[in-house]
Amino acid sequence: MASSLNVVVFLLCFIVSVAAYPGGKLIHAPPKQVYTGIKRIPGKNNPYKAPGPHDLRGPCPGLNTLANHGYIPRNGIATFEEIVNAVGEGFNMEYTLASALTAFGMLARGNAYTNQISIGGPTGKIPPLPGNIDGNSTKGLATHGRFEGDVSMTRRDFAVGDNVHLDPALFSQFLDYVAKYGNDSDVTGPKSVVSYKAMQEFKYARYLDSIAEDPVLVYHFGRFILSYGEASFTLNFFANGTDGVLSTSTLKSIFQNQRFPLNWHRRGTPGDINLIGDGVENVLSAHEDAVPGINANGTFIPDPLPTTGCALYQDLGVNNVPAVLVNTTGILKKNVDFLLKSIHNLFAPQCNFTLPAGESGV
Ligand code: HEM
Ligand SMILES: *[C@@H]1O[C@H](CO)[C@@H](O)[C@H](O)[C@H]1NC(C)=O
Ligand SMILES: *[C@@H]1O[C@H](CO)[C@@H](O)[C@H](O)[C@H]1NC(C)=O
Ligand SMILES: *[C@@H]1O[C@H](CO)[C@@H](O)[C@H](O)[C@H]1NC(C)=O
Ligand SMILES: *[C@@H]1O[C@H](CO)[C@@H](O)[C@H](O)[C@H]1NC(C)=O
Ligand SMILES: *[C@@H]1O[C@H](CO)[C@@H](O)[C@H](O)[C@H]1NC(C)=O
Ligand SMILES: *[C@@H]1O[C@H](CO)[C@@H](O)[C@H](O)[C@H]1NC(C)=O
Repeated sequence: MASSLNVVVFLLCFIVSVAAYPGGKLIHAPPKQVYTGIKRIPGKNNPYKAPGPHDLRGPCPGLNTLANHGYIPRNGIATFEEIVNAVGEGFNMEYTLASALTAFGMLARGNAYTNQISIGGPTGKIPPLPGNIDGNSTKGLATHGRFEGDVSMTRRDFAVGDNVHLDPALFSQFLDYVAKYGNDSDVTGPKSVVSYKAMQEFKYARYLDSIAEDPVLVYHFGRFILSYGEASFTLNFFANGTDGVLSTSTLKSIFQNQRFPLNWHRRGTPGDINLIGDGVENVLSAHEDAVPGINANGTFIPDPLPTTGCALYQDLGVNNVPAVLVNTTGILKKNVDFLLKSIHNLFAPQCNFTLPAGESGV
């Protein structure tokens, strides 16, 4: 009698503890793409459809475009697996890079328990983490801090204006730099191709603008490298895979309409961290006085130079992932471990695995 009561009590406790946090979903590493060559995108099953009023879109032109073609769910809420598959299929982003970037997004701005991330802002369709350990809501990629940051190409700094949507004036400034420093094309005409030179000068202008107009600019090493990484993404992932050319008409299609251009092809080899890193170095090389730091008390204060080759890992994977995530159990703990490993894989074997140390609820 006593023992069967114990069993009933145990079962009730078990049911209550599971029911309190329904929806846990174990994340599985998706299979790698089998074919990683050139391909015409979009395929016939992925037509463009403008987002509906409840569909979420955010600061990333790559993810917005993939959502508008149904490579990730059109509502803008995706799993880890869906994003890794989509950036591989649509842009041929290499698997380790895609996994690390998506894992960082999920840990920093998604719900690692339900395996959901909003490519835009917060939504009632994604609950907070169990026990609200990282605040009352799951915030989404559009939320400033951790991932979204200052000195974007086409979005304003958070303290200055709209940090999520394309700013037409910034985009037209981008086009002006191409008109001045772009490459020529027999097909689309003189100075119609986005060149490294155009990107070097445009990124430098954006940097000087932010220093001048954003009194609370935050541009630490992780965001600094990510922002130049996004410049490199633009040149390497948005270019037409057939000829490697990024024309202004393709640039407009992806940035303004968030739509793949007609007759566009993804790149012919997977774009990995080395390719993106080379692009970052190239864009940075023209203006080496552009350095990480913050604006405070009316002046730009440069950060001390990083002393190890692991500063990017440290800043993103450690400082911008909440420490409380490792203090968990069950499905959440398993997912967190998987995601932390996915970030570290990009930096292994040079950098030692380090547990997250970021704040919660920010
Ligand atoms: C091949 C795939 C991808 C491409 C081509 C791409 C491209 C870009 C570009 C060009 C920007 C900069 C926009 C600007 O500065 O105006 C950007 C921003 C951003 N991307 Fe992506 N992206 C890709 C994948 C991802 C993934 C997997 C995530 C996360 C899960 C992500 C999250 C973001 C976020 C949060 C921003 C805003 C950063 C900021 O400017 O403040 N992106 N992306
Ligand atoms: C959590 O939600 C409560 C009630 O809506 C609110 O008063 C509180 O400020 C929130 N806390 C955080 C950290 O957002
Ligand atoms: C543009 O032209 C320059 C000079 O010929 C060349 O070095 C560069 O690779 C070309 N393409 C891009 C994307 O800059
Ligand atoms: C991509 O290149 C191919 C071959 O040069 C060309 O036929 C096609 O129109 C190009 N597409 C775009 C969007 O530039
Ligand atoms: C800005 O000035 C305040 C007040 O003098 C000081 O406490 C603070 O440390 C300064 N911030 C930086 C980053 O120097
Ligand atoms: C993890 O939990 C332990 C025990 O409750 C606590 O002492 C520790 O501070 C927690 N660590 C973090 C990072 O929350
Ligand atoms: C990694 O850890 C080993 C052993 O503790 C240490 O000798 C090495 O310096 C560490 N490497 C880095 C890049 O921190």
